[in-house]
Amino acid sequence: MKSIVIHTEKKEVSRVTCRKNVLQRALPEALSAYKEAFVFTDETVRALYGKKVRAALGDVPMHAMPAGEEHKTPETLLSLLAAMAGAGLHRNACLVCLGGGVVGDIGGLAASLYMRGIACIQVPTTLLSQVDSSVGGKTAVDFMGVKNLVGAFFQPRQVFADPAFFATLPPREIRCGLGEIVKHGALDGDIYDTLQANRDRLFDLDFLAEIVPANIAFKARVVRADATEKGLRKCLNLGHTTAHAFELLDGKLSHGEYVLVGTMFEAELAKRHAGGDAAYLDELQSLCLAVLGGMPALPDAVEAARFALLDKKNTGKGSVVMTVPVAKGKYQLLELSGEQYCEELQEIGRKLC
Ligand code: NAD
Ligand code: GLY
Repeated sequence: MKSIVIHTEKKEVSRVTCRKNVLQRALPEALSAYKEAFVFTDETVRALYGKKVRAALGDVPMHAMPAGEEHKTPETLLSLLAAMAGAGLHRNACLVCLGGGVVGDIGGLAASLYMRGIACIQVPTTLLSQVDSSVGGKTAVDFMGVKNLVGAFFQPRQVFADPAFFATLPPREIRCGLGEIVKHGALDGDIYDTLQANRDRLFDLDFLAEIVPANIAFKARVVRADATEKGLRKCLNLGHTTAHAFELLDGKLSHGEYVLVGTMFEAELAKRHAGGDAAYLDELQSLCLAVLGGMPALPDAVEAARFALLDKKNTGKGSVVMTVPVAKGKYQLLELSGEQYCEELQEIGRKLC
């Protein structure tokens, strides 16, 4: 695949490339433009790929956080910044974020803060981070019980997506990435058709390698048009309001699994309140269910709805605002009062679970 360039006001800000052998070739080549490099990763990824990093980059300083969303905290961010300062990094250094979305989001935020901003290269190692989180410059940590409450828009200079990383991913992480891919399918008719036509090979690594570029291209198109989420980019939050609510309350499933659940709930809201095409939305829900492998046990929907009211995307007027799917490749914003959202979520929970 050719590189996809993301630019705002005609200035190139980020370049995303799908490559094989990223660690051995593209990354060392890209880092030769910087005086210093620093690798941020998590302990799981370090155990799997640390030796390859050393073989490719030599004695580069490396800092690994404990793996997992529960460590996406200001404390982890501060310990990374301390390690960067301890290594004596200068302004012309490049921070390499090697890992999933947690590493990418925290690392991107650290790069935006350190000396008021140093270069950052994302090397996403999960399916989710390749098709979604590494592209587009959203960075954050969770804070005071709210997901991604503290963050910044900060575009990585480069993103290198290598499907070879999928070989070590547990099936659950594949499902997690498929959650965001199905979300793209709910927004883009071509991605939707590809997923429906390949229902029997959704977990096949060759199929996933095939569909990563189209998913990156879709996301890059949205980010190019609206890098700071003033309008169009809000569409990428489809399924996420309800997903974040269940995720914060429960936390037993992965982010992408909650996105699939959230998409199912919000598709139901679209049937009721947005004139959604019921046949299409049934089919979309069935795709979500196929990826989930059955409906998971969920916590109390009313409690979850209360968390949704805390979502940072809301207006603060006590209502819940969501992007909901309405027909193939079509979606719209839906605003419900907090009370109505609570009631309906409970009803939908009874219907779906
Ligand atoms: P993650 O970073 O926690 O990775 C999932 C697990 O997979 C971790 O245990 C990790 O150690 C392990 N792992 C990573 N690469 C591996 C590999 N190649 N082989 C084996 N194991 C590997 O989770 P994620 O699903 O990648 O990302 C979720 C995060 O991304 C959430 O915090 C979410 O908020 C964020 N996100 C951000 C954006 C954005 O635009 N910035 C978009 C979507 C999601
Ligand atoms: N994942 C949502 C966004 O990047 O805007």
